[in-house]
Amino acid sequence: MKIAVLQERRPFEKRVAATPDTVKKYKTLGYDVTVETGAGVASALLDAQYQAAGAVIAPTPEATVDGASVILKVQRPMAANEGIDEMGMMPRGALLIGMLNPYAALEDLQAYAKQGVVAMSMELVPRITRAQSMDVLSSQSNLVGYKAVLDAAEQFGRAFPMMMTAAGTVPPARVFVMGAGVAGLQAIATAKRLGAIVSATDVRPAAKEQVQSLGASFVMVENDETKQAETSGGYAKEMSADYKRQQAALIAETIKKQDIVICTALIPGRAAPRLVSREMLQSMKTGSVVVDLAVEQGGNCEMSEAGSVVEFDGVRIIGYRNMPSRIAVDASALYARNVASFVQLLSAPSGGELAINWEDEIVKAVSLTRDGSVVHPQFQSVS
Ligand code: NAI
Repeated sequence: MKIAVLQERRPFEKRVAATPDTVKKYKTLGYDVTVETGAGVASALLDAQYQAAGAVIAPTPEATVDGASVILKVQRPMAANEGIDEMGMMPRGALLIGMLNPYAALEDLQAYAKQGVVAMSMELVPRITRAQSMDVLSSQSNLVGYKAVLDAAEQFGRAFPMMMTAAGTVPPARVFVMGAGVAGLQAIATAKRLGAIVSATDVRPAAKEQVQSLGASFVMVENDETKQAETSGGYAKEMSADYKRQQAALIAETIKKQDIVICTALIPGRAAPRLVSREMLQSMKTGSVVVDLAVEQGGNCEMSEAGSVVEFDGVRIIGYRNMPSRIAVDASALYARNVASFVQLLSAPSGGELAINWEDEIVKAVSLTRDGSVVHPQFQSVS
C-alpha cells in the first residue's frame, strides 16, 4: 500500500508532511512511500535522505499520488483555480491527511466529497491523553511561542536581560504575554530565558498556576464569569461585553509599562478576541514591539496586518503569516511525527495496510468526508 508525500505549494509554506525519520517508520509498518522531488528542501531535507530512508522519489505531483492509498500534506491541496489542481489528482477512495483548515475553507469539503477522498483534518484531533502524540496544534504552537519572542527581539532596539556595565546599566525588557495556552506558555519560558521581566494574562483561571510556575506574574480580571470561561476541552469561551470592558481597563493599565507584547489569544472556530486597541498602542513607549500571533484569525491587536510588520505611533507590530513555517525544520519534524502516530492508529496491527476503526473517538473527530459525503457533524450543513 502506497503513502504519497506531496511538496507544499501554498505561499509562505516551507514545511513538509514527512521526514526521512517518519519514512523509516512507515517502511517498518509495511508501507511503500513515494515523496515528490524537492518536497523537503525548504525544511533542509534532501531527496537523497528520503531515498536512503527507503522512499521512492517521484518527479511530478501526478506521479507522486498515482495509485496512492494515503496522501500526506501539511496544508490543504491546491484547486484548479489556484494554479495547480492537486485536488483533481487525488485517486478516488484515497485517504488525505493534513491540516485542512475546515473552518476557513468550508467549500473544500464539497470538493473532497466530490473527488471521493476520505479527508482527515489533523487540527481536529481531540486533546485527550491518548492523542497527545498526534496533537499538531500543540506541536506547532509550542514552536511558534518560542519564535515569536525571537522575532520580537529582532525588531526591538534594546536588550532583554539587565546588564550592569562600566558604561551604565541596561534595564531588563518587560514582556507581556496575552493568552497563556501552549504558545503563550512557551513565549513566557523563552522570554524568561532571555532575561526579561515577564507577565501574562488569560481568561482561564487554570492558567494562573502555569504562568506563575514559569516565574512570570499573572494579571487577570477574575470574577464569577471566569469560573465558566473554560470549555470541557480546555479552550476559552467568548466573554461578555461587561467582562471585555473590565479586561480592557486592566490591559490598558498594564500595557503602557511594557516593551514587548506577545498576543496569542484564540477562541476555536471564532474570530480572535480584540485585546489591544489603537489607544493602548498610543500609550506604549516608542520602540516597543507587539507580535500578533492571532493575525490570521482576525488579530488580537487592532492595527496588525497579516503578512507585514507595521509601525504605528512608534510601536512595531509584527503580523507574520504562517509562523510555524518560520521555524520549518523543527515544525516539519514534529508535524511529521504527529502524522506518523496518527497513521499508525489507522493501520492494521499486522502492518502494511489501513484498518480504520470508524467508531474510534479520534477518527470520528477528524473525519470530514467519506464515501462521497461530508460526514463531520459540525460541517454537515454545508453538504
Ligand atoms: P488557544 O490557542 O485556543 O488559545 C490561546 C490562549 O488564549 C488560551 O489559553 C485561551 O484561554 C486564551 N484566550 C482566549 N481568549 C482570551 C481573552 N479574551 N483574553 C485572554 N486570553 C484569552 O489555546 P491552546 O494553546 O490550544 O490551549 C487550549 C487549552 O488546551 C489549554 O487549556 C491547554 O492547557 C489545553 N491543552 C491540553 C492538551 C492535552 O493534551 N490535554 C494539549 C494541549 C493543550
